[in-house]
Amino acid sequence: MLDVRSLSVAFHRPEGLVRVVDDLSFTLARGETLGIVGESGSGKSITALAAIGLLPRGARAEGQILFEGRDMLALSERERCALRGRRIGMIFQEPMTALNPAMTVGAQIAEGIRLHTSATRREARAEALALLERVRIPDPARRINSYPHELSGGQRQRVGIAIALALEPDLLIADEPTTALDVTVQKEVLDILEELVDELGLALILISHDLGVIARIADRTLVMLRGRTMEEGPTERVLRHPASSYTSELLAALPRRARAGLASPPAADREPAR
Ligand SMILES: Nc1ncnc2c1ncn2[C@@H]1O[C@H](COP(=O)(O)OP(=O)(O)O)[C@@H](O)[C@H]1O
Ligand SMILES: [Mg+2]
Repeated sequence: MLDVRSLSVAFHRPEGLVRVVDDLSFTLARGETLGIVGESGSGKSITALAAIGLLPRGARAEGQILFEGRDMLALSERERCALRGRRIGMIFQEPMTALNPAMTVGAQIAEGIRLHTSATRREARAEALALLERVRIPDPARRINSYPHELSGGQRQRVGIAIALALEPDLLIADEPTTALDVTVQKEVLDILEELVDELGLALILISHDLGVIARIADRTLVMLRGRTMEEGPTERVLRHPASSYTSELLAALPRRARAGLASPPAADREPAR
């Protein structure tokens, strides 16, 4: 479904052209979850934005991002926009960025549905209600009339997921979707994402600085540092036998309880990064 080949992204800075993503390659199959993990500033968000063709102004991208064989980097803005709206859903760290504070959540979800389908108002509202149930918002028949500020952070993130789902995407990109949430709420949101992948057969790219989050639901894990791939492979293998000393560092930094739930602790004397 997605085939990223030698992606590099650079910004013009006063000191010259600075590469923030450097020769990154990965693939994602339908129904698969890829975790991208790395410390802040390693280029995870820029990679995600490149994949949906929403790079910030001034960014220069090279390489190929093939979405079902079509290169996102070579498409016109109009073609990209069509793909993005309909096929690729995005979930952000701070759900308020995706929400309109002046509209009820039901109206926002319904708006997306009506923009892309021939649904009537009534049908779109029924669909919005079903989506709120799907993301397990408590008391959805009441919540559908709430404004974003009336909801908790976890509920807002669920609405963000519902809005992304409204367009029936095939690929969901979740960039630090649980970072702003309390630990217990984090778990609930991850459970919902996992369920959606299973039930709807979505492909998911889950981005986090927290290896514990990635370890919970990613089939494969890509570890990034300073724009480069440190390693990539089945999550289990990456956790049990990290090939990169940087992955070992990330594992060692996890709270002991989280680590115990994952795998054997990393050995200190692994080979350096590829
Ligand atoms: N609009 C921008 N202009 C210039 N540099 C940027 C811009 N956005 C991000 N960067 C730089 O790109 C690098 C990678 O950022 P980002 O992808 O947001 O990292 P991550 O999501 O892994 O924390 C950082 O060094 C950041 O400062
Ligand atoms: Mg980021």
